[in-house]
This record gives sequence, structure tokens and C-alpha cells, in this order.
Amino acid sequence: MDSASEQEAYFAEVSSEYADSYTNPQTIMDHEKVHRLQVALSLAPLDDSERVLNVGVGGGELAQFVPPSLHERIVGFDFSRAMIEQARRRRPDGTFVQGVVQDIPLGDGAVDTVLCLGVVGYLDPAELREAIEELYRVSDVTVVLSFANAASPFRRARQGYYYVFLDTLKRLSGLGEPLTHRYRSYDPEMVIELLEAAGFSVTDRAYLTYSSGLSNTPIHRRLYRFFERRLSQSDRAGPLAMTWVVKAEKRDHDG
Ligand SMILES: C[S@@+](CC[C@H](N)C(=O)[O-])C[C@H]1O[C@@H](n2cnc3c(N)ncnc32)[C@H](O)[C@@H]1O
Repeated sequence: MDSASEQEAYFAEVSSEYADSYTNPQTIMDHEKVHRLQVALSLAPLDDSERVLNVGVGGGELAQFVPPSLHERIVGFDFSRAMIEQARRRRPDGTFVQGVVQDIPLGDGAVDTVLCLGVVGYLDPAELREAIEELYRVSDVTVVLSFANAASPFRRARQGYYYVFLDTLKRLSGLGEPLTHRYRSYDPEMVIELLEAAGFSVTDRAYLTYSSGLSNTPIHRRLYRFFERRLSQSDRAGPLAMTWVVKAEKRDHDG
């Protein structure tokens, strides 16, 4: 498992470029990030939320996607100081809290809606369970969570390339730095079971990226867009998609 300090160092290294994926998306995986955020906002429009917690604030890109009138309702949360600094550059008057998702320093039901996008991959299974229980505690109603689908053949191809082929090649040749971080993928059934065990019901979902993202030629990007538009709501194709976005609502909320 990656140590916390290795993860911290990784995010400090990528923090200054992270926002480029959103301001100037080039690769299929850049486009996926943009689409993931758009889809999350379509599953949980933030207009009715008085307080929103954006777990894994990254470079603060969420601000780009919601009207300025909502900015002051959003609390950006992240364990990386470097990422929070980037996000603060974008929103100098924003509210940011530093900490780990498994132990959020906010009270019970402190926010209406939590967005937690692109974070689950950095958690091991025990941390994921703790994180979901913590999201249940701090949210009053809704959590939107994305995660990498372990059963997707596209995800397997991508992870096999990076974590087996490329990593072995680097180690054997001594060329290039061995990878220090891995983006974990999860069986969707397991994530849904954890959400339900915590007290959520999964009320909506979307499926992203029918491509490994390993080739970024114009034809691959066109194919990606073609399938993305047609299959993001397809329960039949969903098991093949690289990424799932699920909306979970607390079973015991009053509304
Ligand atoms: C891949 S970025 C995703 C950023 C943004 N949510 C997005 O959708 O583009 C992951 C973010 O989660 C943060 N992160 C990773 N593990 C975390 C943890 N255990 N607790 C809090 N933040 C974490 C990282 O510092 C980083 O900012």
C-alpha cells in the first residue's frame, strides 16, 4: 500500500498541473474528469443545498462548473496542502478544510450534499469503509461518489499497462522512476454494499468511459465521445465502463 507521505508527495508534485485537465483537456482521461464532474452535478444539482462538501477538492475545479452564487456554500476538503493552495488560488475567499476523508473534522449532518470524485482510488478497502461511514455521518442527505470499476475490461487493460507492463519494464531496465502510487479499482457491488451498510440507498448512477484511454489519437477520442454520449445511462453497458458515479441518499433523512 502507498504510505500517506508517498501520497502526499505525489499530490504535491501534480498539484500545479492538475487544473490543466479541466482548463485544457487533451487526453481521454482529461475529458473523463470534466465529464465526471458534469455528470455528478446532473445527478445532484447543488441549487437546493445550503452546504456542500467537495471531498478531494483538487485544483478547485468545481467552481468553474457552478454559478458564482453557489460558491460560498461550498467547503473544499482535501488532505493535500498543495492541492488546497491551488484551489485557494482559484477562490481566494473560499472555505477550505484540510484532513483525511476517513476522519472529517465537521459535525454530524454538517452539510446537505457531499461530492467525492476521484478520491476512492487512493483508499484501501478498510479506509474506503471508514470513509463511507464518515460521509454518512457528515452529510444530511446526499453523497455523490465516483470510483474505478474493477470489472471493466478497459480499466483492466489500463492498469495492466501501467502497473504490470510499464512498471516491470522500468524496474528491469532501471530507466524511469518506479511508480509510487496506484489508483485502486473496486467491484461496484462491494461499493454499493458498503454504502447500503452505512445507511444509504443508491438512487441513481452513471457509467463513464468505454475506452482504456491508452491511445489518444483523434479516432480514439472520437470513439470515446461516441460511446460516452450514448452509454452513460446504460445499465446493460455499465459493467464495461471504466468509472462509475453513484448517487446515494441517506435512508433516514426527513426530506
Ligand atoms: C484525482 S484528485 C480528484 C480531484 C477532483 N475531485 C476531481 O474530480 O478532479 C484526488 C484528490 O483527492 C485528494 N485525496 C486523496 N486521498 C485523500 C484522502 N484520503 N482524504 C482527503 N483527500 C484525499 C487528493 O489530494 C486530490 O486532491
